[in-house]
Amino acid sequence: MTILVTGGAGYIGSHTCLALLEAGHDVIVADNLSNSNFNNLERVQQIAQKKIVFYKIDVTDELKLGSIFENHTIDGVIHFAGFKAVGESVEKPIAYYYNNLVSTLILAKICIEYNVEKFVFSSSATVYGENKSPFLEMMTLLPTTNPYGETKAMCERILMDIVKANPSLSVSILRYFNPVGAHESGLIGEVPNGIPNNLMPYITQVARGELSNLSVFGNDFPTFDGTGVRDYIHVCDLAEGHVAALDKLRTGVHTYNLGTGIGTSVIQLIEVFEKVTGEKIPYQIVSRRAGDIAECYADVKKAKEELRWTAKRSIADMCRDAWHFEKSRQDNYNY
Ligand code: WQD
Repeated sequence: MTILVTGGAGYIGSHTCLALLEAGHDVIVADNLSNSNFNNLERVQQIAQKKIVFYKIDVTDELKLGSIFENHTIDGVIHFAGFKAVGESVEKPIAYYYNNLVSTLILAKICIEYNVEKFVFSSSATVYGENKSPFLEMMTLLPTTNPYGETKAMCERILMDIVKANPSLSVSILRYFNPVGAHESGLIGEVPNGIPNNLMPYITQVARGELSNLSVFGNDFPTFDGTGVRDYIHVCDLAEGHVAALDKLRTGVHTYNLGTGIGTSVIQLIEVFEKVTGEKIPYQIVSRRAGDIAECYADVKKAKEELRWTAKRSIADMCRDAWHFEKSRQDNYNY
């Protein structure tokens, strides 16, 4: 199939484009490169030995997005494009609501106009809010602590209403847990803007000496060692989950957790990283970060049963691949 991937130059998007190409699909990417680098797509094409058609456009630009559908026969879309920094969303709510909601509305509108009926949406476990883990897809969503999470919950509801009015559409909503790691080649991976907010890229930069030590945000959570527990999933497993969701699409809206179902604490992640890489990660315990919940991990039965997909890679694989990419990007790409 020919798949339009919005935000395909990004961290998860580029890994998904690679998985799509390797599964035999043709890929078109629409990305404004506001939070990504075209080099990622050059390296995806290098790994896959297949071409990607690229358009540098903003997905909220209806005319330019429509012209892609005018010039290509598109069988389905995967919608990643959107702002995704939790902290930033609290400071810039208008930008987040506008960009994340309008891009989804315009993409869905054009899909309907061009009879493109396969739609995979990038959502997040953040939408579960203060629910208790393990998170189940049928749980009632609770308010999140930030506009980013709210935009994802709102887009889910928007898509449900659109499908009610257009029952021939097939929509798969994928709720990611904590994507980490990188493709084993070390050619693509996560390149945060500035000082990383997320744990794994912070750890890899401490390991490389870019940052001096890690602040562990609290060890007084009601978890087995007091530090935050998360469901880390290898970005390549996540990418393969998108291919599975696309292949298994059927009419209506279907929501899936993409996680491992395993909770790992901050201290545990540090220990595995040190063991796998031989690098020491100095850290100090500091106060909790606003908005952090104690535990967030998935119930993964539904994706296993309906998508025939489960995450295969271990925490050790994630640490190894994240470290390999961090070293490669310094040695070879200087970015
Ligand atoms: C993981 C754990 C922190 C940094 C966020 C978004 C979520 C999704 C993934 C988009 C927590 C602890 C972290 C550090 C630390 N993004 N930590 N020191 O917050 O679970 O999820 O990213 O979809 O929407 O909320 O990920 O990596 O920031 O934190 O101790 O310097 O590591 O407290 O327990 P999080 P994270």
